[in-house]
Amino acid sequence: MKPMIFDSHAHYDSHQFDEDRHELLLSMQENGIGTIVNCAADWESLTEVVEMAQCYPHVYAAVGLHPDEVGELDEERFAFLKQQCQKEKVVAVGEIGLDYYWDTASHDVQKKWFVRQLELAKELDLPVIIHSRDAAEDTWNVMKEHAQGLRGVIHCFSYSKEMAEEYVKMGFHIGIGGVVTFKNGKKLKEVAQVVPLDRILLETDCPYLAPEPFRGKRNSSLYVPYIAQAIADIKGITYNEVVAQTAKNAKELFL
Ligand code: NI
Repeated sequence: MKPMIFDSHAHYDSHQFDEDRHELLLSMQENGIGTIVNCAADWESLTEVVEMAQCYPHVYAAVGLHPDEVGELDEERFAFLKQQCQKEKVVAVGEIGLDYYWDTASHDVQKKWFVRQLELAKELDLPVIIHSRDAAEDTWNVMKEHAQGLRGVIHCFSYSKEMAEEYVKMGFHIGIGGVVTFKNGKKLKEVAQVVPLDRILLETDCPYLAPEPFRGKRNSSLYVPYIAQAIADIKGITYNEVVAQTAKNAKELFL
């Protein structure tokens, strides 16, 4: 039997799926995609991902506010976020972190709510899904201070292999998506090589970051096989080993 894929990071609440969301999600399992974690990012999605998890048996939810969106947070809204985290089938706090590329909120505001959401994950005993872009040093410093004892994944990993090894030592998983198939994805290919397979999670981040040969198009979990094959080629192991082990990793972490 072929092992089923676990897509650890998707955004099916995106408007890019408005035309065919239901059909697409219903087609996953017959296409070998066994489980999906649908991640919240903005304020509306805190509700949408929880509702979608209730509609589809193979879809789970992560609830958290993306660093680009934390400018909207206050204590009242944070209390609502906490409530959403306690709903059925919510398996992680995420995606949370720091994004100095878009820089939509000040670094102090981003750090404040990043720390608060890490503390929330500890309080609720949930793993975390970390987003970090152009903020390697600050993310590492916040994590060192506030993420000890937490489990989770650094999603869409974009830093050096040395940094990846540090997160692995801290007990975290590394999320690898479509970028590993890109010609200019050399850094991530190195990461895929050095990180042990039992610490890698497959992810799409769909509708974004479609792998080759679909780069630039709308992504979906149906394209995860291209990511798994790229990792298998880099590590010199079989496609089935990659799919089976990464699904096991994700299940142990989230389910
Ligand atoms: Ni994402």
